[in-house]
Parts: sequence; structure tokens; C-alpha cells
Amino acid sequence: MKLGRLNHVGIATPSIETSVARYRELMGAEVVREPFDLPAQGVRVCFVDTPNSQIELIEPLGPDSPIVNFLEKNPAGGQHHVCFEVPDIEAARSWFDGKGARILGPTRIGAHGTPIFFLHPKDMGGVLTEIMETPKEVH
Ligand code: CO
Repeated sequence: MKLGRLNHVGIATPSIETSVARYRELMGAEVVREPFDLPAQGVRVCFVDTPNSQIELIEPLGPDSPIVNFLEKNPAGGQHHVCFEVPDIEAARSWFDGKGARILGPTRIGAHGTPIFFLHPKDMGGVLTEIMETPKEVH
């Protein structure tokens, strides 16, 4: 296992529209991708590009969304997770299993169309951590 590129920082928000306006007007963001629904994770997603990474804005997709509780505790939104790339998702999963790190749920397809899983924040110093296979093509 070798720690890869920081792919994105996940930010939960009650409104992608409001957050996008903030990133454009306050932060000077120039490249904002088209928002889309990711039903497998119960969220609506919008990527804001930075020169070296991305911000992943996530908004609940319905009342059963896994980020509803987070937004109840943090009504204005907040930092939700970080995401690191790995070359091989199955090798990474085996590695974390072998280390006794808790993996949350099955490996599934994430917002970039590549396999991902999440590590429990209790094994990562309080930070929910997404592990994603590096996309094969430039996004
Ligand atoms: Co993410």
C-alpha cells in the first residue's frame, strides 16, 4: 500500500447551489462541473476544480441520505471526508483488512466512476476517509 494523490475533499452542504456561488464569488473558482445524482451513495454531487485537486460538494438526495445526520449536527455544512487514490482498489482493501482497519460497506462505484470504499473515522484519527481507484483516463 502506498498513499496516493489527494483526489478530493468532500464537503457536505444543505445547498450545492449556495456552495457553488460561494466557491465562485468568494474563492474565485473558475471550473465547476455539472452536478449529478449518485443514488448509490444517497447524495447529489458537484465537483469544483482546484489546480491540484477537487472539492466534492455533496447534498442529501432524499431524507434517507447518509449525510442527513451530519447536516443535522452541522446545519451550515462542513468538511465530511477526504479521498485518496490507490492504483488497485482490491489490493488496498486487502491491505486495510490485514491492518484491522474498519471498512464501511462494500466496494462500490464512486462519483468518478471508479471503485471506492470508506474507512471508519475511528481508525483514521476522526477523519472519514474515502479510498478510490485512480481513474484510468484524465477527468
Ligand atoms: Co468523495
